[in-house]
Parts: sequence; structure tokens; C-alpha cells
Amino acid sequence: MIKMYQIVDKIEEAPNVHRLIIHEPMIAEKAQPGQFVIIMSDEKGERVPMSIASTEKNTFTIFLLELGISSAKIANLKKGDDLYCVVGPLGMPSKIENYGRVVLGGGCYGIGAIYPIAKALKEAGNHVTSILEARNKYLLYYQKELEAVSDEVYIATSDGSVGTKGHVQDVLVNLIRDDHQYDHAKFIGCTYMMMNCAHITHPYKIPTMVSLNTIMLDATGMCGCCRVTVDGDTKFACVDGPEFDGHLVNWNELMMRKKSYHEEEMISYQTGPHVCRALLEINFGENIE
Ligand code: FES
Repeated sequence: MIKMYQIVDKIEEAPNVHRLIIHEPMIAEKAQPGQFVIIMSDEKGERVPMSIASTEKNTFTIFLLELGISSAKIANLKKGDDLYCVVGPLGMPSKIENYGRVVLGGGCYGIGAIYPIAKALKEAGNHVTSILEARNKYLLYYQKELEAVSDEVYIATSDGSVGTKGHVQDVLVNLIRDDHQYDHAKFIGCTYMMMNCAHITHPYKIPTMVSLNTIMLDATGMCGCCRVTVDGDTKFACVDGPEFDGHLVNWNELMMRKKSYHEEEMISYQTGPHVCRALLEINFGENIE
């Protein structure tokens, strides 16, 4: 019998990018595009917010980018293992309507996260342009799936190994300069990319939504960890978001808040149980027994 929170399948889509299919019938039934879940690998694990990429019968799919200690712990779980806890669906669904011509951008985990939104916008009658970003061509994933729900797909890679050399914002600026008209835009991925894209669409008055990946704890609007300032008002990304108007987000404050535990995260990752003990001695010169 499949247990609650069981990982029914796990596929490494690209180096350090894992597709996890998780058994949780209620989330599978209720989740809407743009929503997320909180996942804990074990009793003492961090509560990690993850965008829901798709839902199937009794299961839902997330894309995990292995980046720090918490994502490494989840990535170390195998097919058939159980997660300690899954909470969701959380957050406000993405607003889906017939805007006309829509441009979407997804980088890293955002490639998977943008998929359900692209699919829903396409089904609502929009002309959908999707821009995918990865550091190199080996880190791209889900391209075929996004092509199936988009009218146009553009690729950006940091090393130029495929598509435009650069980022989502570089493709976006070229498209706009080439007179492509857009009535709506949505971006999911690293904060810097989303901020840049919002700055590009602002002078063209293209309504732009960004999905903010803030630090989260309870994800029910109680702790205040995920607070962001939007148009001068304090909002909680977990209950008011995760999507906000990219032209009204206080990006500087958001960047500062996201760095709050950077040092602790680095130490935790470099000294975690998954790290080679010989490397630890080399790096830290300490007796690690
Ligand atoms: Fe606690 Fe949003 S995570 S208020």
C-alpha cells in the first residue's frame, strides 16, 4: 500500500535537479497553478517551500534544485521513501484569464514551476511565450513539456551552450525591442532574474507578476518570516502570495531578508552529514570526530 507522503517516483532530470512525484491525494485534488507545498525531509528538517509543477491522480510533482543542506537531505531520499511531512496546497493560485499575449520566464526550479501556469494560460486562450533559463544546456529540463503548452519557447543559458547567452531578462529585452507585444508577464526563479524582468517590463507598462521565494516557517501567515513590502504595505508571501506585482515589490529589502541565514546555511551545508569527512578536515582543519 502506498503511504501518505511517499515518494512514488524520483527522476534526476538534470544534474542536481530532481523531479519528485509524491503521494498525497488531497493536494493532488485541490492544488491550482501557482500554489506550493511545504516539505520536511525528517522531524528536524527545515520546512522547505516548493512550487507544485503538476498534479496527477493521487500524486503531485515538484522539481527540487539541490542547493543547500535541506534540499540535499530531500534529494538523498529514494523512490519509495516517505517524507516526514507535506503541507498544502498553500498560497493564492495564479490569476488565470485571457490576457491576450503572455510572456513567461522560468529559471532553475522555476522551469518546472512555470509549467502549470503556461498550461492554464494556454487553455484560457492566451498566446503563450515561454523563456527558460539554465546555466548550461545540460541543466535544462521540461523543454518538451513547455513546448507542448506554449506558442513559442526561447532558451537562455549562462554559457551560451544553447539559445541566447545570458538570462531570461536578456531574451525578454530582445523580444520587446523586436516589437513583440505582451499584455501580461509572469516570472518564477531566482530573485535577481525576477527583479530584472520586472524592471524591463515596467517602462512598457506590461502587468508583471513574480512568484516570490522567501524564507518561510509556518506558511500560514502567523510567524512573519516571509514578509515582503509591496506598494509600501507589508504582505506575507505564504498567504497573500506567492505572486505579487513585480513593479511594486521592494526588491532591496527582499534581497537583504533572503541573505539573513546565508552564513549559517553555508556552514550547515559544508559540515552536514553528506559531506566527505576527509574534505571537512582539509577545508576546516579540524578534528571532526
Ligand atoms: Fe510565516 Fe508566512 S511563513 S507568515
